Amino acid sequence: MAAYDVVVIGSGPGGYVAAIRAAQLGLKTAIVEKWPTFGGTCLNIGCIPSKALLHASELYEEAGHGFADMGIGVKPTLDLKTMLAFKDEGVDGNVKGVEYLLKKNKVDSYRGVGALAGKGKVKVTPDKGEPTEIEAKNIIIATGSDIVRLPNIEIDEKRIVSSTGALTLSEVPKKMIIVGGGVIGLELGSVWRRLGAEITVVEFLDRLLPPEDREVSRQFERILKKQGMIIRTKTKVTGVDTSGKTLKVTVEPADGGEAETLEADVVLVAIGRKPYTEGLGLEAAGVAVDDRGRVKTDGHFRTNVEGVYAIGDVKDGPMLAHKAEEEGVAAAEIIAGQAGHVNYGAIPNVTYTYPEVASVGRTEEALKADGVEYKVGKFPFTANGRAKVNRTTDGFVKILADKKTDRVLGVHIIGPDAGTMIGEAVLGMEFGAAAEDIARTSHAHPTLSEAVKEAALAAGSGAIHI
Ligand code: FAD
Ligand code: NAI
Repeated sequence: MAAYDVVVIGSGPGGYVAAIRAAQLGLKTAIVEKWPTFGGTCLNIGCIPSKALLHASELYEEAGHGFADMGIGVKPTLDLKTMLAFKDEGVDGNVKGVEYLLKKNKVDSYRGVGALAGKGKVKVTPDKGEPTEIEAKNIIIATGSDIVRLPNIEIDEKRIVSSTGALTLSEVPKKMIIVGGGVIGLELGSVWRRLGAEITVVEFLDRLLPPEDREVSRQFERILKKQGMIIRTKTKVTGVDTSGKTLKVTVEPADGGEAETLEADVVLVAIGRKPYTEGLGLEAAGVAVDDRGRVKTDGHFRTNVEGVYAIGDVKDGPMLAHKAEEEGVAAAEIIAGQAGHVNYGAIPNVTYTYPEVASVGRTEEALKADGVEYKVGKFPFTANGRAKVNRTTDGFVKILADKKTDRVLGVHIIGPDAGTMIGEAVLGMEFGAAAEDIARTSHAHPTLSEAVKEAALAAGSGAIHI
């Protein structure tokens, strides 16, 4: 029986990164994956394909509307089949990249469903052929997450789709209803709106992107409406009648009231994801899960069973690829006897729409609720030279800093390239920056990132350019 120091189950951003780091630290490592390709949700059906379509559809829209103002005459036409092939090629390149990295780092790979099979053992059951057992001093569960479904609404991935089906629609729907105004709904809704669909977003709560700062989510809603999205907050979908050619979607006010029927060609259900632990044999192995089915871990990714660890979407914390990666590195380091650590206070969130929404740290609502005394520095992109000349002035940067110590507690950006700009705020928070540290840091001119400096100035001695 092959024997390893570490066996990782699942090859998403958590699993493959953990395996590579474990191997780099000199541990004999194997990875088990049930899908035909490595990379998990993120590379196959998540981050990567969605960003390929966001990129292509943004250029399509820009060419159709924005180019003429700059004196560039283009009449774009849409060849959806080629756009989807462009996305698939991007996925292929990325998953092959992971395969290469695993080989380069001498990580053995096993294809099939991995399950805990008694102390220090993993059983791998391939699609075809006999199961094999491998020995593992340490096991890392990195099996990720799966979509949450709505009761009574069956996802067929053709007309009623999850994010997976929404990445492969063969035609642009005339009307698309999106259940859930979260990250997936707004990213994929943006893709199909840009390609010509009428989008209605139905969100249960009173605002889009509920975990973001309220001011950001309000501004975002206004911008998306201006782009033509129909947004129905405080509304729930109660059923979908699939009997006719057009889907009849019943919606009701979230807190009760009269139902109404909306029509759509496609419904996207994007109401969150849940940990995926099917076939893992957790119960038999005695691994504890919490009331939401997440594998319970201590501060060092250890489950209640000795030698079994968990990282990524399958455990608690934000369901983000970079969070899974950080945990993968830290878990491997801990297994190798080092002091692996993840700073959960400095994990950025990015929604890759136009404009982008990006944040790190705490929202104003959270600070208020905890009675923290804070100050706010804000700077709009309308006052940023580069944004003005590019005509990308929607949005602002907002910095929240401790009133007494000036330490940065949260940074919220809505604007062009917010996802890239948030990087400096994350680094600053990682280093315990004060707003003044950012304000006194030279930012190249003319760049959008000068808005971050100006927001930091606004939190202290005052912004210059407004
Ligand atoms: P996963 O990536 O889910 O990987 C788990 C792997 O384990 C899978 O390959 C699965 O096949 C395998 N597996 C499961 N059970 C077994 C078993 N028993 N045996 C063997 N293999 C098994 N996050 C971001 O940070 N940025 C984004 O832009 C972003 N975009 C997203 C877009 C969409 C449409 C979706 C759905 C998600 C997106 N996410 C994004 C979230 C991100 O994909 C996840 O947070 C991330 O993939 C979690 O990584 P993971 O390693 O924990 O699990
Ligand atoms: P989400 O949690 O971001 O959003 C779900 C939304 O649906 C919430 O606003 C919620 O209030 C709403 N909702 C829940 N039940 C509802 C109902 N019955 N009717 C109407 N609205 C309802 O989840 P989403 O968008 O499905 O994404 C899943 C995960 O994937 C996220 O947690 C996110 O972390 C990750 N992801 C990250 C991306 C990124 O980092 N850019 C992109 C896409 C996904």
